[in-house]
Amino acid sequence: MKLLEDRIIQTGRIINNEILKVDNFLNHQIDVNLINEIGKDIASIYPNANKVVTIETSGIAIAYATSLALNNCPLVFAKKQASKITSNNNYTAKVKSFTKSVTYDISIDKSYLNKGDKIVIVDDFLANGNAGVGLVELIRQSGAEILGFASAIEKGFQGGRENIERLGIKVYSCAIIKAFKDNKPVF
Ligand code: G4P
Repeated sequence: MKLLEDRIIQTGRIINNEILKVDNFLNHQIDVNLINEIGKDIASIYPNANKVVTIETSGIAIAYATSLALNNCPLVFAKKQASKITSNNNYTAKVKSFTKSVTYDISIDKSYLNKGDKIVIVDDFLANGNAGVGLVELIRQSGAEILGFASAIEKGFQGGRENIERLGIKVYSCAIIKAFKDNKPVF
């Protein structure tokens, strides 16, 4: 998606040829117009989806735009921390975060995932793919159908795509960064 690639070039900051900071339009301040275009792009790849699933926090904006573009279909986000009033009525999975070196539980209330759902999983970044793998494992407990996974920005050199595709899930990303060279992205 050229619009997104151009924005990454203009305002993204790359740290140590490893981390892309996009706080300017995605992870802190949000450019709603650009995010809406990302949502339309993802919806065009999965036009038959009738539910969008993501994980808090930064995935929610992308999921909202995708849901809007899919005729306002329901959007469900997995929670990273069990609420004090959480019942046992949840699907759960474990996610390892490489960047933060921790493993955490994710959960979704069983009433929000059903057989007959055709789900597109979305996230802001695809890096190692652990969030995506955890969401696939969680959703599969419900019997819902997963049409595919979509990220706004994929770092194509961290194996995330392969980790999700290994589960038989289609992967799409609006912008794919093949490498960082001299702290610049190579698409
Ligand atoms: P994964 O999401 O593909 O599994 O990758 P990983 O475990 O490596 O990522 C952990 C967190 O770091 C994720 O956010 C992911 O989106 C984010 N991340 C990975 N690489 C980059 C990068 O180059 N730039 C930025 N800005 N983020 C990156 P999270 O912890 O779930 O954060 P949040 O959604 O709660 O904000």
